Amino acid sequence: MHSINIIQPDDWHIHLRDDRALEITVALAEQSFARVLAMPNLVPPLTTVPSILSYRSRILASAKNAHFNPYFALYFTGELNANTLREAKHCPWILGVKWYPQGATTHSDWGIQDIHQHFEHLALMEELALPLLIHGEVTDSTIDIFDREARFIGNILNPLQQRFPKLPIVLEHITTRQAVDWVKSMPAHIAATITVHHLAFNRNHLLAGGLRPDYYCLPILKQQDHQQALQEAVMTSGQTHFFLGTDSAPHVQDKKYSACGCAGCFTSPIALALLAELFYEHKALSLLETFSSINGARFYQLPLNQQQVHLIQKEWMVPHHYTVDGLTFIPLLAGQTLSWQCQSIKGINHE
Ligand code: DOR
Ligand code: ZN
Repeated sequence: MHSINIIQPDDWHIHLRDDRALEITVALAEQSFARVLAMPNLVPPLTTVPSILSYRSRILASAKNAHFNPYFALYFTGELNANTLREAKHCPWILGVKWYPQGATTHSDWGIQDIHQHFEHLALMEELALPLLIHGEVTDSTIDIFDREARFIGNILNPLQQRFPKLPIVLEHITTRQAVDWVKSMPAHIAATITVHHLAFNRNHLLAGGLRPDYYCLPILKQQDHQQALQEAVMTSGQTHFFLGTDSAPHVQDKKYSACGCAGCFTSPIALALLAELFYEHKALSLLETFSSINGARFYQLPLNQQQVHLIQKEWMVPHHYTVDGLTFIPLLAGQTLSWQCQSIKGINHE
């Protein structure tokens, strides 16, 4: 039986939601991850430092593990101001500002449509070295949904990066070869998160042989060639630009499986197991730690975790659902058997 010990991973992009859902989302996140970066697309969105601190207390009230450490990004709205940016920079739990192009995804109605109107904030963020986290898709309804990320990079992101060359940027949940190539061509303060589902699946999983809402997320799963580009990016030794952000995004069952189902793959419970399986199949297990536990911490200038996780090749079945207080969430791959699992967490010391 194969196994590997790695530094405990972090999830640098997760949706924990709020209220009753926290009981499930926080329990699952802390089973696998030491730190998470929780996204601010709540209703209403998290636009101020006090609103983030109060969300942090709600999350910690649900956590069982005293070492679980949630971080955050401010939601970039038209109301953002210089004081809030300065306050955010001084808050140890806030790692950046998240830009959702308006209409791009779930709860993005408060987002920024025309970033050119907000260049003064980007200039200040560049001065403060406060990262801009980007949902990188154009929202023009005439642009094909499969082309939206590539168009965003060419038309918006590249000019933006040239205008603010020192601004730290995380291009979130990248899905295309164009994104991989662009990020690789950039200096170290430009990085990207990659999800487990975009590494493991492509649009055939969503669309071929039946429409499967579980696999519907944004940015949408792309062709196999793009999936391979993501795999190559994380399974090449020496790469530092790419790190794990699961974008685990649970939606209640009724909203996910409806005539107009919500975007989001609920992957927290399977993320590490599926990653181990994937890296093992590609004979790249030795590179898993860099992607899941090192590159993200380095980018955000945080220490590596002290604990280790033990991943072993042993079958288990993904639960059919998680239910709390009348809310039911179905995880991706519900009822299916995975061949790896995360077994234990032990303390280690890094020099
Ligand atoms: O699939 C997605 N779901 N993509 C996002 O960008 C947001 C997320 C959510 O919050 O449900
Ligand atoms: Zn997200």
